[in-house]
Amino acid sequence: MKLSVPRETAPEERRIAVSPDSIPRLLALGVSVQVERGAGEAAGFSDQALEAAGATLAADPKSCLEGSGVVCKVQPPNLDEVPLLPEGATLVSFLPTSASPQLLRALCGRHITAISFELIPRISRAQAMDALSSQASIGGYKAVLMGADRLAKIMPLQMTAAGTIPPSRVLVLGAGVAGLQAIATARRLGAVVEAYDVRPAVRDEVRSLGATFVELELEAQEGEGGYAREQSEEFLAKQRELIGQRVQQSDLVVTTAAIPGRPSPVLVTKEMVEGMRAGSVLVDLAAEGGGNCQLTIPGEEVVVNGVRIVGLRNLPAMVASTSSQMYARNVATVCAHLVKGGELSLDLSDEITNASCAIHAGEIRNELMREAALGGVGKS
Ligand SMILES: NC(=O)c1ccc[n+]([C@@H]2O[C@H](COP(=O)([O-])OP(=O)(O)OC[C@H]3O[C@@H](n4cnc5c(N)ncnc54)[C@H](O)[C@@H]3O)[C@@H](O)[C@H]2O)c1
Repeated sequence: MKLSVPRETAPEERRIAVSPDSIPRLLALGVSVQVERGAGEAAGFSDQALEAAGATLAADPKSCLEGSGVVCKVQPPNLDEVPLLPEGATLVSFLPTSASPQLLRALCGRHITAISFELIPRISRAQAMDALSSQASIGGYKAVLMGADRLAKIMPLQMTAAGTIPPSRVLVLGAGVAGLQAIATARRLGAVVEAYDVRPAVRDEVRSLGATFVELELEAQEGEGGYAREQSEEFLAKQRELIGQRVQQSDLVVTTAAIPGRPSPVLVTKEMVEGMRAGSVLVDLAAEGGGNCQLTIPGEEVVVNGVRIVGLRNLPAMVASTSSQMYARNVATVCAHLVKGGELSLDLSDEITNASCAIHAGEIRNELMREAALGGVGKS
């Protein structure tokens, strides 16, 4: 069976779904691996390196995809790419439940089976397949580096003959995978770090990284399986009131509070930003879902009253070599789960396959996606 990896076409996507390290693992499954020429270039993986690892190269997307049983990608295909997917092929990529109804219907039209990384269950057996975590961790790291680079101050305490410079103060809102990596990175740079999360369970993890956990007198709604759920507007209003002063004292604020499948809650208001010192920076990792800051413009970087608000999307793609290396490992682990003796063998009674298989041979299995695709009939 042929496994193919076409070049990513989404704007500014620099990652790739295989790496020189992951190709031998895929070959060991008894499949052949074909990569489109240049697909690894932006991640620092040359055609020669991918070929030396055992892949064959294809000149264009059409010849790359032709005859393949499994197609591995980072981003979901766009509507122009779907007709190139072989009928009945299995797609392994990110595919959010918010994917457009037309895309879902187009995939069904080609009898595609789609394994979505957003739907991999977060159980310990699936940890090596958890691309949401591997990529969020890179995002948290990059958010702090971007913030540090944009500050007109240094992060660490400096005691020199030219005077004593106090350390920068960093506030991290949301201490999930990205938030914890942001805390660790800011600490390594020497900042004084505080963090807050609605899940009190993360208090010890925050402290073990050398940050202070901000205690707010608030009672959050518990989610399932350790996840946060959407909080009431009353809760969020109280939270904003209590967190406002901390935001205003910080040089760098990194917000990471996302609710799966829902718009991001507003944690930082326009008024709070107005109270921040000029030269401060806010990096909003929740920009994709609208942002945790009221003034975030997704995909853009703006300055309001001297405060820089960074709403750039897809930070992992800015660290494409490492993020591809990790993503490729996630992809290879998913493939090892699905391929037996060189052929696909989907066991839908298996918890991981059952949860992550969004579409099976053209039938949408995920409820949210099914509703969207049916509800969206006739809409563009
Ligand atoms: N394999 C596993 O077992 C596994 C894998 C990954 C994650 N997890 C668990 O899931 C947690 C969250 O995962 P994630 O990083 O993908 O989460 P996420 O990206 O969905 O959310 C980021 C963080 O924002 C927090 N948040 C939400 N609303 C908030 C608010 N109003 N104020 C402050 N914080 C708010 C959440 O509690 C979460 O910690 C992890 O920390 C971990 O405990 C488990």
